Amino acid sequence: MRAVRIHKRGGSDGLVLEDAPLPHAATGDVVVEVRAAGFVPDELEWPATWVDRAGRDRTPSIPAHEVAGVVSEVRYGTSGLAVGDRVFGLTDWHRDGAAAEYVAVEARNLALMPESLTYVQAAALPLAGLTAWQGLFAHGGLKPGQRVVVHGAGGGTGVMAVQLAREAGAEVIATGRGRAAEVAMEMGAQTFVDLERERFEDVEAVDLVFDTIGGELLERSAAKVKPGGALVSVTAPPPVRPEEGRALFFIVEPNRDQLAELGRRAEAGRLRPHVGAVHPLAETKAAFQGKRGVPGKIVLEI
Ligand SMILES: NC(=O)c1ccc[n+]([C@@H]2O[C@H](COP(=O)([O-])OP(=O)(O)OC[C@H]3O[C@@H](n4cnc5c(N)ncnc54)[C@H](OP(=O)(O)O)[C@@H]3O)[C@@H](O)[C@H]2O)c1
Repeated sequence: MRAVRIHKRGGSDGLVLEDAPLPHAATGDVVVEVRAAGFVPDELEWPATWVDRAGRDRTPSIPAHEVAGVVSEVRYGTSGLAVGDRVFGLTDWHRDGAAAEYVAVEARNLALMPESLTYVQAAALPLAGLTAWQGLFAHGGLKPGQRVVVHGAGGGTGVMAVQLAREAGAEVIATGRGRAAEVAMEMGAQTFVDLERERFEDVEAVDLVFDTIGGELLERSAAKVKPGGALVSVTAPPPVRPEEGRALFFIVEPNRDQLAELGRRAEAGRLRPHVGAVHPLAETKAAFQGKRGVPGKIVLEI
C-alpha cells in the first residue's frame, strides 16, 4: 500500500510517501480502508511514535492517529463492526497510524460514522473531541453554570472544548492569538482574551482552566483557579498548583461510547468539526509543517 512513513527522529522533514506492507491485523482488530486522517503536528516528538508498548524500536512509523474510513477486514474477537461499515476513531499511538491506504485498529476504539458527516469531517473529531470531552468532564468535572477558560480556543482541541463546554451550560472564556477570536466566538465562547494584546491576569477566577498551549501560560494559570476548581492540561504537568484546587495532566484515551456520543452530537448539528485545511496524502509533510495559524484541524484525504 502507499503510506507516509518516518524512519528516524528529527522532525517532519523525514516524512516520506512510499510503499509499505499492508498492516497486520491482530486479534480484536479490524482493518480500515482509510479515507481521511487527522494528526497532531507534535506527535512526531512523542515516544509512542518511535517505540511500541514494550519499548522496542518500531520504525519506520506511520503517523496520524485519527481515522475515518471503511472496514475492509474483521478479525476474531471484535464486536459491533462489519465489513463495509463507515467508521471513525482514534488509533493506538504505539502502532502505525492512518497516513496510509489501510490501518489496523482495535475495533473497540472505533464507532460508526454519523451518516451526514463526510470522511474529512469525521477524521477531525476523534482526537480533538475525546481530548476535550475527557479534559472538561472526566478530569475537569465541569458543571452547568461554572466558568471555564479554554487556552488555545482556535486550535483543533480548543474548538471542540469551547463547543462542549458551552453546551454543558458553562460560561466560556477563550484565549489565543488575536486571529483565533472569530472562530472561538463562532464556536460559542462568550469572551475572548487576545494573549498577544491583553493580560490573562485580568480574567476573573474560574472553576476550570483547560490548557492546550502550555509553557509560561500554564504556569500563570494556577492563580486563576477558584478554590475547589481545577487546572487541566494536555500539554504538560502543571508546574504550579492552584492554592486550593487540583492540577493535572492527562493523555487522551480511546473510548467508543464517548466517540459515539460526539458522533450523535455532530449528526444533530450540536457539535461542528472544524477543518481549517485539507491535504492529499502526498502533501503530508506540508500539512505537518503548516499548522500554525490554521484554525481547527488539518485533515489528510486519502
Ligand atoms: N495529552 C493529550 O492527550 C493531547 C491530546 C491532544 C493534543 N495534545 C496537545 O495539545 C496541544 C494542542 O493540540 P491541538 O491539536 O489542539 O493543536 P493546534 O490545533 O495547533 O491548537 C493550538 C492552538 O493554540 C494556539 N497557540 C499556541 N501557542 C500559543 C501562544 N503562545 N499564544 C497564543 N496562542 C497559542 C495556536 O495558535 P496558532 O495556530 O496561531 O499557533 C492554536 O490555535 C499540542 O501540544 C498537542 O500535542 C495533547
